[in-house]
Amino acid sequence: MNIPWWRDAVVYEIYVRSFADASGDGVGDLPGVRERLPYLRDLGVDAIWLTPFYPSPMADGGYDVADYRGVDPLFGTLADFEALVTDAHELGLRVLVDIVPNHSSSEHPWFQAALRGEGRDRYVFRDRPNNWQSTFGGPAWTQVEDGQYYLHLFAPGQPDFNWRNPEVHAEFLDVLRFWLDRGVDGFRIDVAMGLYKAEGLPDVGDQSFTTSSPVWGQPEVHGVYRDWRRLLDAYPGERMAVGEVWTDSPEDLARYVRPDELHQSFNFAWLEAPWSPTAFRKVIDDTLSTVPFATWVLSNHDVVRHRTRYETADPGTGLARARAALLTMLALPGSAYLYQGEELGLPEVTDLPAEARQDPVFFQSEGKLPGRDGCRVPIPWTVDPPSHGFSPGGVEPWLPQPATFAELSVDKQEGDSDSTLEFYRRALAIRRDLLRRIPYTVEWLDSPEGVLFFTRGPLICAINCGTHAVPLPGHDSVLLASGPVRRGMLPPDTAVWLERGSQPG
Ligand code: GLC
Repeated sequence: MNIPWWRDAVVYEIYVRSFADASGDGVGDLPGVRERLPYLRDLGVDAIWLTPFYPSPMADGGYDVADYRGVDPLFGTLADFEALVTDAHELGLRVLVDIVPNHSSSEHPWFQAALRGEGRDRYVFRDRPNNWQSTFGGPAWTQVEDGQYYLHLFAPGQPDFNWRNPEVHAEFLDVLRFWLDRGVDGFRIDVAMGLYKAEGLPDVGDQSFTTSSPVWGQPEVHGVYRDWRRLLDAYPGERMAVGEVWTDSPEDLARYVRPDELHQSFNFAWLEAPWSPTAFRKVIDDTLSTVPFATWVLSNHDVVRHRTRYETADPGTGLARARAALLTMLALPGSAYLYQGEELGLPEVTDLPAEARQDPVFFQSEGKLPGRDGCRVPIPWTVDPPSHGFSPGGVEPWLPQPATFAELSVDKQEGDSDSTLEFYRRALAIRRDLLRRIPYTVEWLDSPEGVLFFTRGPLICAINCGTHAVPLPGHDSVLLASGPVRRGMLPPDTAVWLERGSQPG
């Protein structure tokens, strides 16, 4: 059977503004990413996902796109993008780009025309707003000069498209072609459960991401992905799409990955789960029983970094649990999405001063919510201030890095076998080798309370979520542990990969 590259891929999310700055303006850019591709090859990932780098007024860090076929000068040029794709492919890395189909920027020529009264039907204009709220806080409607209101489920600078207008549909097929023709291997689809809203835009009581919501997950959206799938399949080279789907139900998630729709959808269930063996086991069972190709995510540019989530829930455990969760996730069948900096064990930066913050969530919630800047602080490459090698020279990065980033920098961790970076490198290298020998299934073994043991053929993964060390299950060799494993005992907050026998299971 031909196994498509993405089925077991480890995909590394690059939040472009915060990865590496080559131009020296304090903001990450495409040439910065290009320079660091060898680092990603050495880390052992299979693909990169680039967050939006398109022309944008940056009302939401680039998720407000003014031109879907270009590169913002802040991030470089189209030629820089093409060079990046060429280099990535030479290094054996696939490239995914972010497509933002739910909304454009208010600076997009279509919205500018709509403001002048031309082509308003490409967006959602109404004489009277309903009671929907913006995901970032405040009403989801903004009034324009002639008295009408337009819908924006996110910032006012992000007007929602009207997907019931065929012109929108045609435009996005063309945008996909534009990037496919430039060699991208696939797309990450922003707010993939958005796009269509229930006819009549009824008021809602609860606006969370539920299956019954009139705001999200309307059945018509699946027709879009069927069309996109046909387009992707018409290109050579296993092009793929992964949807950002927030939903309360694994069955609903599975609808997005029916054989003629998206290849993958992000599975946020683990990211939302507490540190608990019961919760982890449920997430794993629910996922593997509902979707043909699983994905696993611990962190991304929208959530508190997992090290800090675990640390906040139980002080003193953050890094150990983050490493244990990673090892467990990488042992599961399917594809893993990593977020830049997690391989360094970066924590969320929780004490950014208000004047440094940039996320619209902070502003639209009138400072009640900190927003997502804390997971977007630029990567520390070296120990040296002011930017820890993020920007050349003495340039300050667009968000300030805490002094603690020096110790976590790539330079500091490289070659130190106890470091989180070297742990990730070993885990990814072993996983790559294991994938040739292990089946796409999980079998649970009996385990002590608070602990999970599962096998995939010769691989055994054990994670201890309890409070006492437990004996390791029977094995022939220890492949890798997330923390100290001695005298056959697995301490709390630790996971391990073991191997038994040598024949495939
Ligand atoms: C997605 C993105 C997030 C963005 C939002 C609106 O959730 O991941 O960063 O703010 O969509 O585009």
